[in-house]
Amino acid sequence: MGTFVTTTTTTLTDTAKELVAGGKGLLAMDESTKTCNKRFAVLGIPQTVEFRRDYRELLVTTPGLGESISGAILYDETIRQSTTSGKSFVSVLNQAGIIPGIKVDTGTVEMVGHPAERVTNGLDGLRERLAEYTSLGARFAKWRAAFSIGDGRPSRACIEANASSLARYAALCQEMGFVPIVEPEVLMTGSHSMQRCHDVTEEVLYRVFVALNDHDVALDAMLLKPNMVLPGLSCPTQESLDEVAKATLHCLMGTVPDDVAGIAFLSGGQSPELASARLNAMNLPTSEALPWPLAFSFGRALQQPTLDIWHGDESNVIGAQLELAQRARCNWAARQGEYSEALEPLRTPS
Ligand code: 13P
Repeated sequence: MGTFVTTTTTTLTDTAKELVAGGKGLLAMDESTKTCNKRFAVLGIPQTVEFRRDYRELLVTTPGLGESISGAILYDETIRQSTTSGKSFVSVLNQAGIIPGIKVDTGTVEMVGHPAERVTNGLDGLRERLAEYTSLGARFAKWRAAFSIGDGRPSRACIEANASSLARYAALCQEMGFVPIVEPEVLMTGSHSMQRCHDVTEEVLYRVFVALNDHDVALDAMLLKPNMVLPGLSCPTQESLDEVAKATLHCLMGTVPDDVAGIAFLSGGQSPELASARLNAMNLPTSEALPWPLAFSFGRALQQPTLDIWHGDESNVIGAQLELAQRARCNWAARQGEYSEALEPLRTPS
């Protein structure tokens, strides 16, 4: 490694640490236009660039957000947008002490020869896109690979293909001065047991770290964004908070090298309250000592109640922002092992 890379890596390590410091976590607000529109459609919100901008303005201008949120993951459309008063979203985030990041994969496609599996695209032209995102103010990036559990799934071929792309993406990010967030998501959909999720997640993480090592990715300058180890959504047995925490920690301890700067879970379709409660269970003082901070990088578990309240109506903006700040605080508390139902004054936990 030359001097340039060493210097860059030092800075990247600082950024990676900052993203998981102070008990804070990340706000994933990087839904593609298609996904954002899908969520709007459910609530009857017009699926236009103006409404998407209005909604993202609501999120980034939430008062006090920087007290619990360290970084926000933006989408290509969003990183170019500004508030109605003409301030770029990136500058609003920076002023709030929130580091701007960017989703750089271009989504998943059906895998050749494996019609039930997906591979993630986005390596073509990535170096040039990262250069542009630097000029737009992003300091970290995200790439998501998704694995479904089913008969013979995920296949070895699917795991290898996605692990290799994740590693090539991460190496390129570090070359270009970005902290990569490496997100291999084992999906909750299905009736599989928690043990099956454990075993699949273990295999996926093992292969991802082999690939990251092969591509010389500096582990102290990246974050891992994994799923929690959970029973399938339609599995008749739904384990307790404690059992989920134990299974998840067992899986991570066996696969994630100590050098990794931090772990920030995705929420994956869990209810906001369950996501907080499970994160809390892993961060209880009685839980085992861990080599990395356990943080959050939630999308739906942070945003869904806010989106429900907003509903596309400007008169709901303040209420929606209060809800976002509240959910972010709940997850901040969960990082200290101090979350409880008492922090949920607005809803009863499901
Ligand atoms: P969820 O928390 O809704 O799973 O979203 C996180 C994310 O960034 C998905 O890529």
